[in-house]
Parts: sequence; structure tokens; C-alpha cells
Amino acid sequence: MTITSEESLVLIKPDGVARNLTGEILSRIEAKGYQLVDIKLIEPERSLLAAHYAEHEGKPFYEPLLEFMESGPIVAIRIAGNRVIEGFRSLAGTTDPTTAAPGTIRGDLGRDWGLKVQQNLVHGSDSPESAERELAIWFG
Ligand code: TYD
Ligand code: MG
Repeated sequence: MTITSEESLVLIKPDGVARNLTGEILSRIEAKGYQLVDIKLIEPERSLLAAHYAEHEGKPFYEPLLEFMESGPIVAIRIAGNRVIEGFRSLAGTTDPTTAAPGTIRGDLGRDWGLKVQQNLVHGSDSPESAERELAIWFG
């Protein structure tokens, strides 16, 4: 375990914004003790979303995922703190909201809505390399 300050990209996906959960999600990040460094509401071009999710191109959920991410505004947030990348992934919970642990954002606030894509409220970078790449995509 290394204790170094780092940054991560968090997205509140269109389902989270549409369900008025932005404040709830931000307050969980703040209550955990992470710092909000930058934040914006954005409706990104498909090319930005394709770059963000390049690792998933060709998978069965890729097209539904991009359509979902284009379905409404997204809140993009730069957060900072020691071990914030793994810390936010822990706050978010596992990918499938139906089985994500209670106490997590996805586990407490998400569910299966019967669509071809998991609408799981948030994105969080999964490694220092991803964080650097994704922060450049969303914040330049
Ligand atoms: P992934 O990066 O594996 O998950 P996470 O967001 O937890 O890092 O997948 C990206 C998104 O793609 C995920 O948040 C929801 C969607 N997805 C599906 O709809 N079905 C799937 O089987 C997977 C793996 C992901
Ligand atoms: Mg991921």
C-alpha cells in the first residue's frame, strides 16, 4: 500500500443525473473525504464517448452503452485524495447494480431496468493509467 495523492475521473451517468441523484452522489464523495477539483455538466459527442470506452469496442454491450451515455447530460468530476482511484471504486460498488453491495452507490441507488446495458449511475477510473487517460479526454 502506497500513500500518494492522486486524481480520478468520476462520471455521474445520464441515469444518475436524470434521477436527481447528483447531490446524493457528490455528498458521498465529499463525506468520504475526497476533494472536488473540477466539475462540469456535459453532453459529449459520440467521439468522446468512443474514446472513453475504447477498451470495450466490439463487446455486445458496447453500442447500447454508447447510446445510453448519449441519452442525457453527464456530470464529469475530477476528484483527488490519497488512493482515490481504488477508494471511489469501492464507494461505487461492483458493475452490476442488482448485486452491488448495499452501502455502495450502485448497491443503494441502482437496479436492473430491463435494458441491454447496465445503468449503474457512475463511472470511476480503474487504474492510474486509466485516470490519466480519461482525465485528458474529459478535462483536456
Ligand atoms: P466495465 O468497465 O467493465 O465496468 P465498470 O463501469 O464497473 O468499470 O464496463 C463499462 C460499463 O459497461 C459498465 O459500467 C456498464 C456496461 N456493461 C454492461 O452493460 N454489461 C456488461 O456485461 C459489462 C461488463 C459492462
Ligand atoms: Mg471500467
